[in-house]
Amino acid sequence: MGKANRSHQSPKSHPAGEIPEVIRERPASSSPKQKFPWALMSAVVAGLALILLAMMVVWRPQPTPVVTPTPTPSNEPSTEPVDNVLGHLPYNEAPAADLIAISSDGRLRLRKAAAEQFLAMQRAARSAGVTLTPISAFRTVQEQDQLFFAIKQQRNQETRQRAEVSAPPGYSEHHTGYAVDIGDGQAPATNLQISFENTQAFKWLENNAAKYSFELSFTADNPQGISYEPWHWRFVGDRQSLELFYRARNLPQ
Ligand code: DAL
Ligand code: ZN
Repeated sequence: MGKANRSHQSPKSHPAGEIPEVIRERPASSSPKQKFPWALMSAVVAGLALILLAMMVVWRPQPTPVVTPTPTPSNEPSTEPVDNVLGHLPYNEAPAADLIAISSDGRLRLRKAAAEQFLAMQRAARSAGVTLTPISAFRTVQEQDQLFFAIKQQRNQETRQRAEVSAPPGYSEHHTGYAVDIGDGQAPATNLQISFENTQAFKWLENNAAKYSFELSFTADNPQGISYEPWHWRFVGDRQSLELFYRARNLPQ
């Protein structure tokens, strides 16, 4: 009975040890339906990550550009405003060792190159019957301080009014040792007056000063807004003086 019963059992109901060989020997993992493609999945995920990373690099939000002024190369003229006081530009005092006398008493001095040219100009004028008399040349900052403030007080002048005819201390071309006030020895009443422009000395200077590299600093329409000074001449006959006076400057209009 038992044997007969066992022989009629359905294959599906076989106990574990009795699974037919053809089924039992096939490993569970060998079924294509049950194998998950981990390697392929990893490759896809890695690929997506790489693409995402690349997109983040390419489409990374750009910071708002900060516009900074381009610095002016040192070999080009600067367009930056230069400090000025009431239209006057700053100048350093010339070293005393660079100054030589242009007056017989030795009190009036200019830088060597300017002094030599002034004396040559004076000789040429004299040979034409014109007397060029130096009135003022190099000045210290302290001397200019006196000229500006003491005379301002003495004349009861407003600051702006004073600055039209005198530079504040530290801002006079006379500090450089390249500037000289010139009078006509034959018309001393015109010294430091606009009427100096009517003298023989001024007319001679107008025609000849350039040969000696002297020029008027404060012409009638000078961009610094300083009063016309026909007596005030400056030397621009070497690199140092030329750069000193002609370096690009933004001047008050
Ligand atoms: N008079 C000229 C401006 C000066 O004082 O330097
Ligand atoms: Zn002067």
